[in-house]
Amino acid sequence: MKINIAFDVYGTLIDTQGVVNLLLNLVEEKAQLFSETWRAKQLEYSFRRGLMKQYVKFSVCTKDALNYTCAALKVALSDSQKQQLLDSYLCLPAFDDIQTALPQLAEKYRLVAFSNGEAQSVNTLLKNAGVLEYFSDVISADEISTFKPNPEIYQHLLNRVNSSAEQSWLVSSNAFDVIGAKSFGMKAAWVKRSEGTVFDPWGIEPNVVINRLDSLIQHLDKKN
Ligand code: 2OP
Repeated sequence: MKINIAFDVYGTLIDTQGVVNLLLNLVEEKAQLFSETWRAKQLEYSFRRGLMKQYVKFSVCTKDALNYTCAALKVALSDSQKQQLLDSYLCLPAFDDIQTALPQLAEKYRLVAFSNGEAQSVNTLLKNAGVLEYFSDVISADEISTFKPNPEIYQHLLNRVNSSAEQSWLVSSNAFDVIGAKSFGMKAAWVKRSEGTVFDPWGIEPNVVINRLDSLIQHLDKKN
């Protein structure tokens, strides 16, 4: 049976910091802090929504987090500037290593995109990046109205790929996602996208740590 590899999208394949260039025009020296705060709040809102069972789509978490960030950093953006930022989320840039890694991986493994984001947004991002063809499916948390790292979403992934946890890997730059998948019995690779990122010290470790997706294939070939 073919091994499945589920790729997290935001932060793993697609660079959420890609909004910084636009932010430089809008908020100048606050651009980096704005981008980091926006992303952190977007995730926090998804976690809290999941815990409270008050599901809204991930794009709503993104929008609410944008409004929070404007208020917290005392930045007055017009509605059209906010819309420009939200639109930019649909054409965020991809990390360059996916262009070489995904075609190689797709020859041997079954790849799926696996995201909190709505399927339509994920499809658009992967299509813009020219890599949609390497994925056999796009699996969204929206299909079961919850968010990672709820164990139900990892079960949903396995149901959708019709496979077992032992036959399935998660690849993610998000430590909470790696820990979620590992706790569920899957194998997981952590993509350490920046030098300073620290993995959560919960005693649940990834099977593989890589800096770039290019090196994933060697690791997977050894472990499967
Ligand atoms: C994702 O794409 C949460 O960024 C994460 O699911």
